[in-house]
Amino acid sequence: MERIKVAVLGAGGLVAQRLQQRLANHPWFELTAVAGSPRFQNHGLGDVPWILDEQRPELPPLNVLDVASADTVSELFNSGVVIAFSSLPREQAAQLEPLWVNGGITVFSNASAFRGARGVPLVIPEVNPTSLENGGEDLNHACATNCTLLPLILPLAALHETYGLKQYTMRSEQGLSGGGHEYMMSALQNGHFSSEIPGEAEKTEAEFSHILGWEGDASLTCQRVMRADGHHVFVEATFERPVDAESVQLALETWSQNHSMGDLPSAPKQPLTVVDRIQPAVHLFADGEGFPVHPNPAKDLAAGMAVVVGNVTCPSSTTVRFEAYSHNTVRGAAGGVIFLAELAYWKGLVSTKPVHP
Ligand SMILES: NC(=O)c1ccc[n+]([C@@H]2O[C@H](COP(=O)([O-])OP(=O)(O)OC[C@H]3O[C@@H](n4cnc5c(N)ncnc54)[C@H](OP(=O)(O)O)[C@@H]3O)[C@@H](O)[C@H]2O)c1
Repeated sequence: MERIKVAVLGAGGLVAQRLQQRLANHPWFELTAVAGSPRFQNHGLGDVPWILDEQRPELPPLNVLDVASADTVSELFNSGVVIAFSSLPREQAAQLEPLWVNGGITVFSNASAFRGARGVPLVIPEVNPTSLENGGEDLNHACATNCTLLPLILPLAALHETYGLKQYTMRSEQGLSGGGHEYMMSALQNGHFSSEIPGEAEKTEAEFSHILGWEGDASLTCQRVMRADGHHVFVEATFERPVDAESVQLALETWSQNHSMGDLPSAPKQPLTVVDRIQPAVHLFADGEGFPVHPNPAKDLAAGMAVVVGNVTCPSSTTVRFEAYSHNTVRGAAGGVIFLAELAYWKGLVSTKPVHP
Protein backbone atom coordinates (compact mmCIF):
# COMPACT_ATOMS: atom_id res chain seq x y z
CA MET A 1 0.00 0.00 0.00
CA GLU A 2 1.37 3.40 -0.93
CA ARG A 3 1.56 5.63 2.14
CA ILE A 4 0.16 9.14 2.03
CA LYS A 5 2.45 12.08 2.68
CA VAL A 6 2.08 13.98 5.94
CA ALA A 7 3.79 16.86 7.71
CA VAL A 8 4.24 17.67 11.41
CA LEU A 9 3.88 21.26 12.59
CA GLY A 10 6.35 21.61 15.49
CA ALA A 11 9.90 20.26 15.65
CA GLY A 12 11.21 20.02 19.20
CA GLY A 13 8.17 20.02 21.51
CA LEU A 14 6.79 17.08 23.46
CA VAL A 15 3.78 16.53 21.23
CA ALA A 16 5.75 17.30 18.04
CA GLN A 17 8.23 14.55 18.89
CA ARG A 18 5.52 12.10 19.92
CA LEU A 19 4.01 12.72 16.47
CA GLN A 20 7.36 12.14 14.75
CA GLN A 21 7.90 9.01 16.86
CA ARG A 22 4.50 7.57 15.94
CA LEU A 23 4.93 8.40 12.26
CA ALA A 24 8.43 6.90 12.00
CA ASN A 25 7.03 3.48 11.00
CA HIS A 26 3.39 4.27 10.36
CA PRO A 27 1.82 1.85 7.86
CA TRP A 28 -0.47 4.44 6.20
CA PHE A 29 1.26 7.81 6.71
CA GLU A 30 4.72 8.81 5.55
CA LEU A 31 6.49 11.58 7.47
CA THR A 32 7.53 13.86 4.61
CA ALA A 33 8.09 17.23 6.29
CA VAL A 34 8.53 18.90 9.65
CA ALA A 35 7.84 22.64 9.94
CA GLY A 36 8.58 24.57 13.10
CA SER A 37 9.19 27.86 14.84
CA PRO A 38 12.34 29.92 14.13
CA ARG A 39 14.33 28.09 16.86
CA PHE A 40 15.07 25.03 14.68
CA GLN A 41 14.39 26.30 11.16
CA ASN A 42 16.90 25.00 8.60
CA HIS A 43 18.36 22.59 11.18
CA GLY A 44 18.51 18.96 10.16
CA LEU A 45 15.78 17.07 12.04
CA GLY A 46 18.51 14.84 13.48
CA ASP A 47 20.10 17.91 15.11
CA VAL A 48 16.96 18.92 16.99
CA PRO A 49 17.44 17.75 20.60
CA TRP A 50 15.35 14.64 21.26
CA ILE A 51 13.36 15.13 24.48
CA LEU A 52 11.28 11.95 24.86
CA ASP A 53 12.38 9.15 27.20
CA GLU A 54 12.54 6.55 24.42
CA GLN A 55 15.44 6.67 21.95
CA ARG A 56 15.02 8.80 18.84
CA PRO A 57 13.58 6.51 16.17
CA GLU A 58 15.03 6.42 12.69
CA LEU A 59 13.51 9.48 10.99
CA PRO A 60 13.85 10.65 7.39
CA PRO A 61 16.68 13.10 6.65
CA LEU A 62 14.58 16.28 6.67
CA ASN A 63 15.39 19.93 7.26
CA VAL A 64 13.01 21.82 9.53
CA LEU A 65 10.89 24.19 7.42
CA ASP A 66 9.23 27.50 8.36
CA VAL A 67 5.76 26.74 9.69
CA ALA A 68 4.62 30.34 9.13
CA SER A 69 5.54 30.54 5.45
CA ALA A 70 2.94 30.33 2.70
CA ASP A 71 5.79 29.19 0.40
CA THR A 72 6.41 26.17 2.66
CA VAL A 73 2.74 25.25 2.42
CA SER A 74 2.57 25.60 -1.34
CA GLU A 75 5.81 23.65 -1.88
CA LEU A 76 4.54 20.83 0.31
CA PHE A 77 1.14 20.90 -1.37
CA ASN A 78 2.85 20.66 -4.77
CA SER A 79 5.00 17.78 -3.54
CA GLY A 80 1.89 15.80 -2.57
CA VAL A 81 1.55 16.36 1.17
CA VAL A 82 -2.12 15.95 2.07
CA ILE A 83 -2.19 16.02 5.90
CA ALA A 84 -0.50 18.21 8.52
CA PHE A 85 -0.54 17.26 12.20
CA SER A 86 -0.42 20.40 14.33
CA SER A 87 1.24 20.57 17.74
CA LEU A 88 1.38 24.36 17.78
CA PRO A 89 0.61 26.44 20.86
CA ARG A 90 -2.94 27.82 20.89
CA GLU A 91 -2.05 31.33 19.69
CA GLN A 92 0.14 30.14 16.82
CA ALA A 93 -2.43 27.51 15.86
CA ALA A 94 -5.12 30.19 15.64
CA GLN A 95 -2.97 32.13 13.21
CA LEU A 96 -1.20 29.39 11.26
CA GLU A 97 -3.56 26.42 10.93
CA PRO A 98 -5.78 28.41 8.49
CA LEU A 99 -2.68 29.08 6.35
CA TRP A 100 -2.22 25.32 5.94
CA VAL A 101 -5.92 24.62 5.44
CA ASN A 102 -6.21 27.40 2.86
CA GLY A 103 -3.14 25.98 1.15
CA GLY A 104 -5.05 22.74 0.49
CA ILE A 105 -3.56 20.59 3.27
CA THR A 106 -5.95 18.95 5.76
CA VAL A 107 -4.98 19.84 9.32
CA PHE A 108 -5.53 17.52 12.28
CA SER A 109 -4.81 19.51 15.40
CA ASN A 110 -3.87 18.95 19.01
CA ALA A 111 -4.19 22.65 19.79
CA SER A 112 -7.29 24.10 21.41
CA ALA A 113 -7.68 27.08 19.04
CA PHE A 114 -10.38 25.58 16.80
CA ARG A 115 -12.01 23.07 19.15
CA GLY A 116 -15.75 23.50 18.81
CA ALA A 117 -15.42 25.93 15.87
CA ARG A 118 -18.02 25.65 13.14
CA GLY A 119 -16.93 23.33 10.32
CA VAL A 120 -14.03 21.89 12.39
CA PRO A 121 -15.13 18.55 13.87
CA LEU A 122 -13.97 17.84 17.43
CA VAL A 123 -13.86 14.07 17.62
CA ILE A 124 -12.90 11.08 19.74
CA PRO A 125 -13.05 8.06 17.41
CA GLU A 126 -14.90 5.72 19.78
CA VAL A 127 -17.36 8.32 21.05
CA ASN A 128 -18.55 10.55 18.18
CA PRO A 129 -17.01 9.14 14.97
CA THR A 130 -19.86 10.33 12.75
CA SER A 131 -19.08 13.99 13.60
CA LEU A 132 -16.02 13.61 11.33
CA GLU A 133 -18.40 13.53 8.39
CA ASN A 134 -18.87 17.25 9.04
CA GLY A 135 -22.48 17.41 7.88
CA GLY A 136 -21.46 16.54 4.31
CA GLU A 137 -18.97 19.45 4.06
CA ASP A 138 -15.41 18.66 2.92
CA LEU A 139 -13.13 17.74 5.79
CA ASN A 140 -10.12 20.06 5.75
CA HIS A 141 -9.61 20.72 9.46
CA ALA A 142 -10.38 18.61 12.54
CA CYS A 143 -9.37 18.67 16.19
CA ALA A 144 -8.57 16.16 18.88
CA THR A 145 -9.67 17.04 22.40
CA ASN A 146 -8.06 18.17 25.58
CA CYS A 147 -5.94 15.41 27.16
CA THR A 148 -7.85 15.43 30.48
CA LEU A 149 -11.10 14.66 28.72
CA LEU A 150 -10.07 11.16 27.59
CA PRO A 151 -10.07 9.33 30.96
CA LEU A 152 -13.25 11.19 31.94
CA ILE A 153 -15.37 10.77 28.84
CA LEU A 154 -14.62 7.23 27.67
CA PRO A 155 -15.97 5.51 30.82
CA LEU A 156 -18.81 8.04 31.19
CA ALA A 157 -19.85 7.59 27.55
CA ALA A 158 -20.06 3.85 28.24
CA LEU A 159 -22.16 4.33 31.38
CA HIS A 160 -24.32 7.08 29.82
CA GLU A 161 -25.31 4.67 27.04
CA THR A 162 -26.69 2.16 29.59
CA TYR A 163 -27.87 4.26 32.53
CA GLY A 164 -28.41 7.86 31.28
CA LEU A 165 -26.03 10.37 32.85
CA LYS A 166 -27.66 13.01 35.09
CA GLN A 167 -24.67 14.77 36.66
CA TYR A 168 -21.01 14.25 37.51
CA THR A 169 -18.09 15.60 39.49
CA MET A 170 -14.45 15.14 38.52
CA ARG A 171 -11.17 15.88 40.23
CA SER A 172 -7.97 15.39 38.23
CA GLU A 173 -4.32 14.78 39.05
CA GLN A 174 -2.40 15.62 35.89
CA GLY A 175 1.17 14.88 34.87
CA LEU A 176 3.61 17.74 34.36
CA SER A 177 4.14 17.03 30.66
CA GLY A 178 0.62 18.38 30.09
CA GLY A 179 2.15 21.84 30.59
CA GLY A 180 4.77 21.36 27.84
CA HIS A 181 8.47 20.51 27.96
CA GLU A 182 9.84 23.67 29.53
CA TYR A 183 7.25 23.62 32.31
CA MET A 184 7.86 19.93 33.02
CA MET A 185 11.65 20.27 33.13
CA SER A 186 11.52 23.29 35.41
CA ALA A 187 9.14 21.50 37.83
CA LEU A 188 11.22 18.30 37.82
CA GLN A 189 14.48 20.21 38.35
CA ASN A 190 13.28 22.73 40.95
CA GLY A 191 10.80 20.48 42.70
CA HIS A 192 8.16 23.19 42.84
CA PHE A 193 5.37 24.28 40.53
CA SER A 194 1.89 25.69 40.72
CA SER A 195 -0.71 22.94 40.97
CA GLU A 196 -3.30 25.19 39.32
CA ILE A 197 -4.15 24.79 35.64
CA PRO A 198 -6.03 27.92 34.61
CA GLY A 199 -8.97 27.26 32.29
CA GLU A 200 -8.53 23.47 32.21
CA ALA A 201 -11.73 22.59 34.08
CA GLU A 202 -13.85 24.89 31.91
CA LYS A 203 -12.28 23.55 28.70
CA THR A 204 -12.80 19.93 29.77
CA GLU A 205 -16.43 20.51 30.77
CA ALA A 206 -17.25 22.30 27.49
CA GLU A 207 -15.59 19.62 25.34
CA PHE A 208 -17.36 16.87 27.31
CA SER A 209 -20.78 18.40 26.52
CA HIS A 210 -19.86 19.07 22.90
CA ILE A 211 -18.61 15.53 22.18
CA LEU A 212 -21.37 13.67 24.04
CA GLY A 213 -24.14 16.11 23.08
CA TRP A 214 -25.08 16.11 26.77
CA GLU A 215 -26.22 18.93 29.02
CA GLY A 216 -26.40 18.56 32.79
CA ASP A 217 -24.74 19.59 36.03
CA ALA A 218 -21.02 19.06 36.29
CA SER A 219 -18.32 20.21 38.67
CA LEU A 220 -14.66 19.81 37.75
CA THR A 221 -11.37 20.68 39.43
CA CYS A 222 -8.01 20.11 37.79
CA GLN A 223 -4.57 20.11 39.34
CA ARG A 224 -1.00 19.26 38.41
CA VAL A 225 0.91 16.69 40.43
CA MET A 226 4.57 15.72 40.60
CA ARG A 227 4.60 13.05 37.89
CA ALA A 228 6.00 13.42 34.39
CA ASP A 229 3.22 11.74 32.40
CA GLY A 230 -0.30 10.42 32.95
CA HIS A 231 -3.62 12.05 33.81
CA HIS A 232 -5.65 10.45 36.62
CA VAL A 233 -9.28 11.42 37.24
CA PHE A 234 -11.56 10.70 40.19
CA VAL A 235 -15.22 10.71 39.17
CA GLU A 236 -18.60 10.44 40.87
CA ALA A 237 -21.63 10.31 38.57
CA THR A 238 -25.39 10.04 39.09
CA PHE A 239 -27.60 8.22 36.60
CA GLU A 240 -31.27 8.10 35.68
CA ARG A 241 -31.51 4.31 35.92
CA PRO A 242 -30.40 2.04 38.80
CA VAL A 243 -26.81 0.82 38.93
CA ASP A 244 -24.96 -1.92 40.76
CA ALA A 245 -21.28 -2.80 40.77
CA GLU A 246 -21.62 -6.00 38.75
CA SER A 247 -23.72 -4.49 35.95
CA VAL A 248 -21.52 -1.37 35.80
CA GLN A 249 -18.46 -3.55 35.25
CA LEU A 250 -20.36 -5.42 32.53
CA ALA A 251 -21.53 -2.16 30.90
CA LEU A 252 -17.94 -0.86 30.76
CA GLU A 253 -16.61 -4.10 29.30
CA THR A 254 -19.42 -4.49 26.78
CA TRP A 255 -19.11 -0.90 25.55
CA SER A 256 -15.37 -1.37 25.24
CA GLN A 257 -15.76 -4.52 23.12
CA ASN A 258 -18.40 -2.86 20.93
CA HIS A 259 -16.35 0.29 20.36
CA SER A 260 -13.01 -1.30 19.52
CA MET A 261 -11.65 0.02 16.20
CA GLY A 262 -9.13 -2.72 15.62
CA ASP A 263 -8.70 -1.99 11.89
CA LEU A 264 -6.99 1.33 12.57
CA PRO A 265 -3.23 1.21 13.25
CA SER A 266 -3.37 3.42 16.39
CA ALA A 267 -6.48 1.83 17.91
CA PRO A 268 -6.00 0.25 21.31
CA LYS A 269 -7.02 -3.40 21.33
CA GLN A 270 -9.96 -2.13 23.38
CA PRO A 271 -10.57 1.45 24.49
CA LEU A 272 -11.16 0.59 28.19
CA THR A 273 -9.35 -1.77 30.54
CA VAL A 274 -11.05 -2.33 33.88
CA VAL A 275 -8.77 -3.13 36.85
CA ASP A 276 -9.35 -3.37 40.60
CA ARG A 277 -6.92 -0.56 41.45
CA ILE A 278 -5.07 1.94 39.25
CA GLN A 279 -1.29 1.94 39.53
CA PRO A 280 -0.01 5.02 37.65
CA ALA A 281 3.53 3.74 37.11
CA VAL A 282 2.37 0.35 35.81
CA HIS A 283 -0.65 1.37 33.75
CA LEU A 284 0.76 4.30 31.73
CA PHE A 285 1.17 2.44 28.44
CA ALA A 286 -2.06 0.40 28.59
CA ASP A 287 -2.85 -0.98 25.14
CA GLY A 288 -6.31 -2.42 25.85
CA GLU A 289 -4.98 -5.91 26.39
CA GLY A 290 -2.15 -5.46 28.88
CA PHE A 291 0.45 -3.06 30.23
CA PRO A 292 3.71 -3.17 28.23
CA VAL A 293 6.67 -2.54 30.55
CA HIS A 294 9.15 -1.12 28.02
CA PRO A 295 6.98 -0.18 25.04
CA ASN A 296 8.43 1.23 21.87
CA PRO A 297 5.79 3.75 20.77
CA ALA A 298 7.55 4.10 17.41
CA LYS A 299 6.51 0.53 16.62
CA ASP A 300 3.77 -0.43 19.06
CA LEU A 301 1.09 2.10 18.18
CA ALA A 302 -1.51 0.65 20.58
CA ALA A 303 0.68 1.19 23.67
CA GLY A 304 -0.60 4.14 25.71
CA MET A 305 -3.86 4.36 23.75
CA ALA A 306 -6.23 2.65 26.21
CA VAL A 307 -7.92 4.24 29.22
CA VAL A 308 -7.64 2.27 32.47
CA VAL A 309 -10.66 2.31 34.79
CA GLY A 310 -10.41 1.18 38.40
CA ASN A 311 -11.77 1.40 41.95
CA VAL A 312 -15.33 1.15 40.61
CA THR A 313 -17.96 1.30 43.36
CA CYS A 314 -21.67 2.16 43.64
CA PRO A 315 -22.22 4.15 46.86
CA SER A 316 -25.97 4.45 46.13
CA SER A 317 -28.47 2.84 43.76
CA THR A 318 -27.97 5.64 41.18
CA THR A 319 -24.35 6.67 41.84
CA VAL A 320 -21.10 5.30 40.46
CA ARG A 321 -17.61 6.23 41.64
CA PHE A 322 -14.54 5.34 39.61
CA GLU A 323 -11.02 6.43 38.79
CA ALA A 324 -9.55 6.45 35.31
CA TYR A 325 -6.11 7.05 33.87
CA SER A 326 -4.47 7.62 30.52
CA HIS A 327 -1.27 8.80 28.84
CA ASN A 328 -1.64 12.50 28.09
CA THR A 329 0.93 12.89 25.30
CA VAL A 330 -0.03 9.57 23.65
CA ARG A 331 -3.81 8.98 23.89
CA GLY A 332 -4.39 12.60 24.95
CA ALA A 333 -2.35 14.19 22.14
CA ALA A 334 -0.19 12.70 19.36
CA GLY A 335 -1.65 9.19 19.37
CA GLY A 336 -5.19 10.56 19.59
CA VAL A 337 -4.82 12.95 16.66
CA ILE A 338 -3.17 10.36 14.41
CA PHE A 339 -5.94 7.90 15.37
CA LEU A 340 -8.42 10.57 14.26
CA ALA A 341 -6.70 11.02 10.91
CA GLU A 342 -6.65 7.23 10.43
CA LEU A 343 -10.40 7.16 10.99
CA ALA A 344 -10.93 10.00 8.50
CA TYR A 345 -8.74 8.28 5.92
CA TRP A 346 -10.44 4.92 6.50
CA LYS A 347 -13.85 6.59 6.04
CA GLY A 348 -12.65 8.06 2.73
CA LEU A 349 -12.87 11.62 4.04
CA VAL A 350 -9.24 12.50 3.24
CA SER A 351 -8.31 12.71 -0.37
CA THR A 352 -5.10 10.81 -1.12
CA LYS A 353 -4.13 13.62 -3.45
CA PRO A 354 -3.98 17.29 -2.49
CA VAL A 355 -7.11 19.12 -3.56
CA HIS A 356 -6.73 22.67 -4.82
CA PRO A 357 -8.53 24.95 -2.35
N1 LIG B 1 1.45 18.06 26.40
C1 LIG B 1 0.25 17.52 26.37
O1 LIG B 1 -0.06 16.58 27.14
C2 LIG B 1 -0.78 18.00 25.39
C3 LIG B 1 -1.99 17.30 25.29
C4 LIG B 1 -2.97 17.73 24.37
C5 LIG B 1 -2.72 18.86 23.63
N2 LIG B 1 -1.53 19.53 23.76
C6 LIG B 1 -1.34 20.73 22.92
O2 LIG B 1 -0.27 20.47 22.03
C7 LIG B 1 0.44 21.68 21.73
C8 LIG B 1 1.92 21.47 22.01
O3 LIG B 1 2.11 21.13 23.37
P1 LIG B 1 3.51 20.54 23.89
O4 LIG B 1 3.22 19.85 25.16
O5 LIG B 1 4.23 19.83 22.81
O6 LIG B 1 4.33 21.88 24.23
P2 LIG B 1 5.92 22.09 24.25
O7 LIG B 1 6.63 20.85 24.66
O8 LIG B 1 6.09 23.30 25.11
O9 LIG B 1 6.29 22.45 22.75
C9 LIG B 1 5.87 23.67 22.18
C10 LIG B 1 5.68 23.49 20.70
O10 LIG B 1 5.16 24.69 20.19
C11 LIG B 1 5.91 25.11 19.07
N3 LIG B 1 6.06 26.58 19.05
C12 LIG B 1 6.43 27.37 20.07
N4 LIG B 1 6.46 28.67 19.66
C13 LIG B 1 6.12 28.67 18.37
C14 LIG B 1 5.98 29.69 17.38
N5 LIG B 1 6.21 30.97 17.65
N6 LIG B 1 5.61 29.33 16.15
C15 LIG B 1 5.38 28.04 15.84
N7 LIG B 1 5.51 27.03 16.73
C16 LIG B 1 5.87 27.35 17.98
C17 LIG B 1 7.26 24.48 19.22
O11 LIG B 1 7.76 24.27 17.92
P3 LIG B 1 9.36 24.12 17.64
O12 LIG B 1 9.72 22.87 18.34
O13 LIG B 1 9.42 24.09 16.18
O14 LIG B 1 9.99 25.33 18.28
C18 LIG B 1 6.97 23.18 19.97
O15 LIG B 1 6.80 22.10 19.10
C19 LIG B 1 -0.24 22.77 22.58
O16 LIG B 1 -1.22 23.43 21.82
C20 LIG B 1 -0.89 21.96 23.69
O17 LIG B 1 -2.00 22.63 24.26
C21 LIG B 1 -0.57 19.13 24.60
